[in-house]
Amino acid sequence: MQSLNTIIVGAGARSIAFCKYIKNNPDITCLSAVVDTNLEKAQALINHFDINCLVTADLDLALTKADVLLIATPDFAHVQPTITAIKAGKHVYIEKPLATTVEDCNLIINAAKNCNTVCYLGFNMRHSAIHERIHELVHSGALGKVTTIEANEWYYGGRTYFRRWNRLRKFGGGLWLTKACHDFDLLMWIAGQKPVSIYANSGLSHYKKKTGVGPRCRDCVLKSSCHDYYDINKPIEHWFDEAWRKLQLKMDQSGSMSPDICLYNSDKDTFDNGIAVIEFENDIRATYTVNVLSAKTTRQIRVIGTDAVVEGATESGLITLTERHSCRKTLIDVNNANSGTHNGADQKILTDFFTICRNGGNPRSSLIDGKMAVQLSLAATLSDDEKRVVTFDDLKVLSKFEAQL
Ligand SMILES: NC(=O)c1ccc[n+]([C@@H]2O[C@H](COP(=O)([O-])OP(=O)(O)OC[C@H]3O[C@@H](n4cnc5c(N)ncnc54)[C@H](O)[C@@H]3O)[C@@H](O)[C@H]2O)c1
Repeated sequence: MQSLNTIIVGAGARSIAFCKYIKNNPDITCLSAVVDTNLEKAQALINHFDINCLVTADLDLALTKADVLLIATPDFAHVQPTITAIKAGKHVYIEKPLATTVEDCNLIINAAKNCNTVCYLGFNMRHSAIHERIHELVHSGALGKVTTIEANEWYYGGRTYFRRWNRLRKFGGGLWLTKACHDFDLLMWIAGQKPVSIYANSGLSHYKKKTGVGPRCRDCVLKSSCHDYYDINKPIEHWFDEAWRKLQLKMDQSGSMSPDICLYNSDKDTFDNGIAVIEFENDIRATYTVNVLSAKTTRQIRVIGTDAVVEGATESGLITLTERHSCRKTLIDVNNANSGTHNGADQKILTDFFTICRNGGNPRSSLIDGKMAVQLSLAATLSDDEKRVVTFDDLKVLSKFEAQL
């Protein structure tokens, strides 16, 4: 069978994982173009993977070569290329979050109505072995009636957000959106219910302004003692970080988006740790903690039902199911499917996407799932800003909030 022609839109960190997949799966897909406003970065991406294809800033030109598109521009910039791709009748994989406003979500959803193309929302976390298995156990009824869910995301690498577009709401909506949309989606998927309300609270506890440092690591007087020092000219052993460093060398090195801008003194309007409490329909409550100051990187989840509790973590690859009445414990080890970028989830979601493009079927995460996560993320941001509980379907309030972004 002929391999599908893919276009990547946005040659950044995310597209490194896409290129690795494409390089490893020539029977499934081949790269026919990379579209980016920064042509040098796009060229560096394909050079790194030794791929030869069109590099252009012109999406319309690239479209003539495409069967499918992978959209990996910054969050606020998903809407235009996605609509263009759908209108051209191409299959499209859209990185999370679907968009940064409900209005943009609706524009994409409306463009997709009556179109016969696959629109797959890139919630890769639904494909990690830990989350898949926990979802399966909950929905098999093994836990009885679900009562509470606790989810934690601790992300050591998340500090780099404060060097990147993710630190500004105008580009990524803030961490409740660009980061937490993954986990809000997971919670809704596992609960299998709609959220009713949310209360969120966060703080910028560590990456605050300091005097006499920065503006970039390369200029900084504290470079020899700062734990966050990043030498952009020094090769890195880890394959992903090294590929990313090479791309960052092609970015503007001087302005506020310089890749080694000071994590402390960069302008930002988001937080480094936060907690949200969500109430779902059917008497289910959940908490979610996000913390980018943690020494380790993991996602942990615990679901307590009336018959059993299930708990698992991505860094251990282990799940424990404890039955309430017998106290019997079952250990489930998913380590045979827990490696690769995002614990193997990237490989699985892309294979699912390409399979559906070929053979038909429904994406595990749809445009509507994408919009729901955006709505819950925006509700969390509003709650955090106004220090009050926000009801999920308070769309009037959400529209007002969007206007302020
Ligand atoms: N699912 C995941 O686990 C995961 C992980 C990381 C990032 N992401 C998502 O992937 C997307 C990309 O993030 P990233 O970290 O790779 O960002 P990035 O900044 O590293 O790369 C984005 C690229 O898009 C280019 N670009 C900007 N506007 C463009 C436009 N209009 N047309 C073409 N190119 C444009 C930029 O020049 C840049 O090269 C974001 O939506 C992010 O939230 C998802």
